[in-house]
Amino acid sequence: MTEPAHLAAVRESYDTVAAEYLRLVVPPEGMDPLSRAMLAAFAELVRESGGGEVADLGCGPGRVTAYLNGLGLSVSGIDVSGEMIALARRAHPQLRFQQRTMADLDLPDGALGGILAWYSVHHTPGDQLPALFAEFRRVLAPGGHLLLGGHTGDGESRPGSAYGHPVSYTSYLVPADRLVELLAGAGFTVTTRLDQARPERPERGYVSLLAHV
Ligand SMILES: C[S@@+](CC[C@H](N)C(=O)[O-])C[C@H]1O[C@@H](n2cnc3c(N)ncnc32)[C@H](O)[C@@H]1O
Repeated sequence: MTEPAHLAAVRESYDTVAAEYLRLVVPPEGMDPLSRAMLAAFAELVRESGGGEVADLGCGPGRVTAYLNGLGLSVSGIDVSGEMIALARRAHPQLRFQQRTMADLDLPDGALGGILAWYSVHHTPGDQLPALFAEFRRVLAPGGHLLLGGHTGDGESRPGSAYGHPVSYTSYLVPADRLVELLAGAGFTVTTRLDQARPERPERGYVSLLAHV
């Protein structure tokens, strides 16, 4: 299958910035308390529902994957960037990581007890989000949980550079209400919504959504 242009840009860009991303972005242990609380709540909900395999989609260097593993989940990571996957495997050799797009998962229907998509769906064009969330829904078992965290806004942003390197990716920002609507349309029940603002980046919104099927 030919790789869509937006995905090639994501792959190439994150390949370029992977090492600096690891150096500059705070690990889960340094996140704000409410983001960590959402990760902890997700882990507890998955465990209470019987556990099962969890996929961290758009896992980057695998630090959140490992954090969830430390919270008792059986979790593996998937990312389109080969450099990110290489960093993840190097730092966390006990965990499984796969280079692949989250839009087309190599998993049977109902294979997972949980999905984390943490700051990774904003690189998917808005018109492709219904198909992306349908794929998430397909691979979750009945009662499975989703935690989606990320940027919100309205419109496209092409930063041109990030983490000190040129990047060609686009961020396709949608309002949090629209994310909730799209998840509901894909068959999810959204139970919890945490809206956050960050003083250092006032033009952006941040949302964490807990949902189940
Ligand atoms: C901002 S980083 C977040 C990484 C990680 N979730 C974290 O919090 O550290 C976004 C990641 O999503 C990945 N990504 C974006 N779109 C993707 C897709 N369609 N399939 C797989 N990975 C994707 C990128 O390669 C990048 O590593």
